Amino acid sequence: MELLNSKTYLNLAKDYAGECQAQVRYKFIEYGARKQGYGCLAEVVDKVVYNEFNHARMFYTYIQKATKEQINNIEICTGYPFKEKWDLIDNLRLAAEDEEEEFSRIYPEHRAIALEEGFEDVAKLYDLIIGVENCHHKLFNDLYTQLSTGTLYKKEKPVKWKCAGCGYEHEGLEAFKICPLCLAPQGMVMLKLKDE
Ligand SMILES: [Fe+2]
Ligand SMILES: [Fe+2]
Repeated sequence: MELLNSKTYLNLAKDYAGECQAQVRYKFIEYGARKQGYGCLAEVVDKVVYNEFNHARMFYTYIQKATKEQINNIEICTGYPFKEKWDLIDNLRLAAEDEEEEFSRIYPEHRAIALEEGFEDVAKLYDLIIGVENCHHKLFNDLYTQLSTGTLYKKEKPVKWKCAGCGYEHEGLEAFKICPLCLAPQGMVMLKLKDE
């Protein structure tokens, strides 16, 4: 079967659109976090934005490889989430949900179709992206839990807090409100993430 005439081709176009939208939704979160002074959280989310860009880029590459012709339009009829509003905590929770939908339902379905149609390289790409979206899901859940329970900068046991601005370190239950060295606000203290 030719990729151009397959279900997989349409799935690649749908998923390209989905990754583009995820990238923008997470950019909204990053923007909001930065505005509220959570500079380090914004940096973490920005890395996910760049991951989604690269997922979109790889889907796009497969779409282009299918033909030498100029592709003026691919008709896709499908739905995408528009759940997020402008609340940072809520949006982290919703981002975790969206990631779960991708790694546990959408991409496994599209991977199975790619295998049925004999596109093993595309199935492999789905496989690899599923692994990353699972990590994104855990990361957003972690950020949501820490922010909503007030434990982003406050722990039960003493930890080493480090200023992302100047590198100053301090051990304690709570991160310094203002860095004594460079006067950066608490949002510039590096996060303690589960997976690091
Ligand atoms: Fe992605
Ligand atoms: Fe993701």
